[in-house]
This record gives sequence, structure tokens and C-alpha cells, in this order.
Amino acid sequence: METLKGKVVLITGSSRGIGKAAAKKFALAGADIVVNYRKPGGSSQAQAEELCDNIREMGRRTFMIQADISQKESVKTLFSEVKREAGKLDYLILNAAKAPFKPIEKLFERELRQLVETNYLGNIFCIQAALPLLKQTEGKIVFISSLGSRFYNPAYPLGSMKAAMESVIRDCAESLRGEKISVNAVCGGIVKTDSFKVLRQYWDDIDKLPDNLFVEPDEIADVALFLCSEAGRGITGQTIVVDRGLSNAICRTPGD
Ligand SMILES: NC(=O)c1ccc[n+]([C@@H]2O[C@H](COP(=O)([O-])OP(=O)(O)OC[C@H]3O[C@@H](n4cnc5c(N)ncnc54)[C@H](OP(=O)(O)O)[C@@H]3O)[C@@H](O)[C@H]2O)c1
Repeated sequence: METLKGKVVLITGSSRGIGKAAAKKFALAGADIVVNYRKPGGSSQAQAEELCDNIREMGRRTFMIQADISQKESVKTLFSEVKREAGKLDYLILNAAKAPFKPIEKLFERELRQLVETNYLGNIFCIQAALPLLKQTEGKIVFISSLGSRFYNPAYPLGSMKAAMESVIRDCAESLRGEKISVNAVCGGIVKTDSFKVLRQYWDDIDKLPDNLFVEPDEIADVALFLCSEAGRGITGQTIVVDRGLSNAICRTPGD
């Protein structure tokens, strides 16, 4: 089922977690993968290297590019590397995120700036820098959002940036319609990635949530893949919720 053979996808923040799951899904579907991570020399880089080895074993081309999306110059370099190494870009998956877990009114100025620079400006820098390439392929953009965009999560200022980005998705879908570039988001429920280990320190009752209400990274990756596939061609400007029904059951007793 190599439906994406010959396509190139860049997934920001794909060294681990949901981004890594998406990289593997797109590779299985036949695409060549650009893996991006932020921190040079650490465990993230080691995980990105291991992921690239796995993808090469699957017979795909893959490129690993370190870049911090919150820095405009770094984003420019990321996309010139994509052009130089892969020659084109079909899909941009905006997955990278980093934010403190803290009530929003308690954020220091530097934390507030990091929140906005990574999770809002950084994604927009990526969209702007990707456009010349995506125009050539009539490509697709998928943003990875979370339920914090619409519901209160304890100590989760990232939710405000997710809400802003879901609005950006609607705007860009309309303004890029003429270029035949589709722009959508996948809004994930709660996923047990590295960031969950921090979230559970601030969310007393989270462990009462039954296992079947936690979303697997693959479930989010599958919908991102669907939005980029031929089957998703009729969808633009939308945010699709993938939360196993968690948000549909606000009166659910924890543990049910
Ligand atoms: N976990 C959940 O419950 C959940 C639910 C719904 C949606 N989401 C969303 O899904 C996405 C992935 O979440 P996750 O839990 O898989 O995250 P994660 O495990 O914390 O991984 C984050 C990835 O983003 C990279 N990154 C962070 N800041 C970056 C920057 N400035 N530039 C480039 N890369 C950067 C990290 O690289 P380094 O390690 O090098 O920093 C890492 O590869 C996020 O947008 C998150 O908000 C998560």
C-alpha cells in the first residue's frame, strides 16, 4: 500500500512521541521522510538517528535536520536543507511543541516568550518558509493540536497556542485555497508520551482515567496520514478530534 511513493514529508519535532509515530506511518505508506528535532547532541538526536536507520531499512530516503522552529533563521536553514536534500516538499506536519506546565498567570516573561515563539510564531515561520515548495507540489499542511485548544487542562498554557493555531489553520486554508494547498489540524486527546510524564505531576486525577480513553500516537498519526492521502482530498480548514470520545463525555465519572 505504498500510496505516497515519491512524496516527501517534513515532520517537525519527530525524534520521539507522536512525530516519530507519524514518521513511521508516512514511511510505511511509501513517503520519504525529513526528521526534525531541536536539541543537538542529546538523547533527542540519538532517537532521531535511530528513527532514520529504521526508515532506511524500510527502503525510504530520509534526512535528519536539526532546527529550532522558534528561530526564524533556523527555520530558513531547515527549508533550504529540505530543498537541497529532498528537492521538494509535499506535506508539512507541524508537530513540534514545547511549553512549561504552569498556570498562565504565573509564567515568567521568558516562559511566555518561549510559549509564543515556539508554538505560534515557530509554526507560522514554518508555513511561510514551506510555501514556495508546497506551491510547486500543491501540497498539504497538517497541524497537531490538542484538547487544550478548547477545554481547561490544569497548568497547560500550551492550550492557548493550540487555540490560536486552529484559527490560523482556518485562515490559511482559505488564503491558500487558490494555490491548491490544503490546511487542516488533528486535535489529539491524551497521549502517554514524554510530555505526559510531566502533565501527570500537575493533574491529580489523571490516573483515574481508564486506559481505553488514552490515545495512542499511531491513532493521531493515522489521521494525519489520511488528511494527506487521496482519500482526504475534500477536506480543508478543519480540525479533526481524535480523543476516543473523551471530550464527548464531559459528565463521565472519572474511572468509568
Ligand atoms: N502528548 C499528548 O498528550 C498530546 C496530545 C495531543 C496533542 N499533542 C501534541 O502533539 C505534538 C507532539 O507531542 P508529543 O507529546 O509527542 O511531544 P514530545 O514527546 O514532547 O516531543 C516533542 C518533539 O518536539 C521537538 N521540539 C520541541 N521544541 C522544538 C523546537 N523549538 N523546534 C523543533 N523541534 C522542537 C522535540 O525535540 P527535542 O527533544 O530536541 O526538544 C521533540 O522531538 C505536540 O504538538 C503536542 O502538543 C500531544
